Amino acid sequence: MSKHKNSHHQRIGERFESFVAKHPIWNNPLFIACNNNKLSLEDYGFVISQHFYYSRGFTRLLSALMMQCDNDYYRAELSHNLWEEAGEEDQENCHSNLLRRMITNTFGLDNPDATEFRDYTVGYFNDCLDYLKNGDLIRAAAFLGWGTEGVVPRIYSHFFNGLTKLGVPEEELLYLSLHMECDDEHSEVIEAIALDACNDDTETHWLAIEEAIDHSLTLRDRYFRQLYEELEARQLKQLVKQVTNEKPYADLAQLNDLYANVANKQGVPLYKNDAQDQNVSFEVTRFKVASEVIDPRLLEIPVGKRNEKHRHAHESVFYVLSGSGIVHVDEQEIKVAAGDLAYVPRWYDHYTQNTGDTPLKVLALTDYGFTRCFAKNTERSYRQQPDNVAV
Ligand SMILES: [Fe+2]
Ligand SMILES: [Fe+2]
Repeated sequence: MSKHKNSHHQRIGERFESFVAKHPIWNNPLFIACNNNKLSLEDYGFVISQHFYYSRGFTRLLSALMMQCDNDYYRAELSHNLWEEAGEEDQENCHSNLLRRMITNTFGLDNPDATEFRDYTVGYFNDCLDYLKNGDLIRAAAFLGWGTEGVVPRIYSHFFNGLTKLGVPEEELLYLSLHMECDDEHSEVIEAIALDACNDDTETHWLAIEEAIDHSLTLRDRYFRQLYEELEARQLKQLVKQVTNEKPYADLAQLNDLYANVANKQGVPLYKNDAQDQNVSFEVTRFKVASEVIDPRLLEIPVGKRNEKHRHAHESVFYVLSGSGIVHVDEQEIKVAAGDLAYVPRWYDHYTQNTGDTPLKVLALTDYGFTRCFAKNTERSYRQQPDNVAV
């Protein structure tokens, strides 16, 4: 869409795009959960059927911007965007209908319009509409251009990738893939409106544009956090139901994995690290048993080595199978040998050191099955190795 962009606009546009790229929204727990394959089809169904409220109303947001726009050329451009939103000649394929069909086909929710839209879902849309109606043209266009349309491809690709990994065929996800392709063009038109309205004096309006972009991204960040919090609550509810049911949640015969041999390491490798310069060397194996909350692991540390200092949401009870060493929890040192227990509370920095002359083997019983309901437990910041997840 070079017709909308001269090179001056392009240069300025890129500076705003890098402002967008640095926004905290990209650390939203909903995206982290999508990337870590933590969401089920039902979770996506909830998120996307709530998002339908926004999608169904989107042409109202475009129209609000159009109302602010005194340049008839740009109003014609915006009508073009509206025309695409409306499915062009084929109203059946208007974008809101594409999403209706996706919600019905992929998630089996028959009447998306009858969704119980949350107050925060309606509130998010109304906040956007109010801003576009009441802001000046530059702010409104920045809000809807860089701050909204410009980020749609990146946001939808999180959902698209997560859903295809769950086995949903790409043709069912037309609503998402279409916007991953066309919203860049839509945002260029709107960004050109903002830049033109600055009359080549972008410096004066710089702050206003950044504030508008930030406002849009912050509203959406908050909204997606609210959606994610509800997903967390749903997972916990499920767990609470199983606890309060007063009867087993599944037939024993249907529960595989009632047995694993620790000595033979009948589990799956979870993580390991060798950083000889820091004396770090260890390996963790997770045992796949049919437990809901308790997640048992084997930690092995060679003679003279330690694991990294780290912390996480789950608590652990260590049972030393063989060898001896020191469990460092915060400033405390717990000396342990075969047969001893040590307790590591949640979120305390800790590491374990093999001080004996045989390999140190520790069975760690964690409550990760509980803490994994929370996004914080999937953040990648608690180990020295940035690629390791704090599991
Ligand atoms: Fe659309
Ligand atoms: Fe740990």
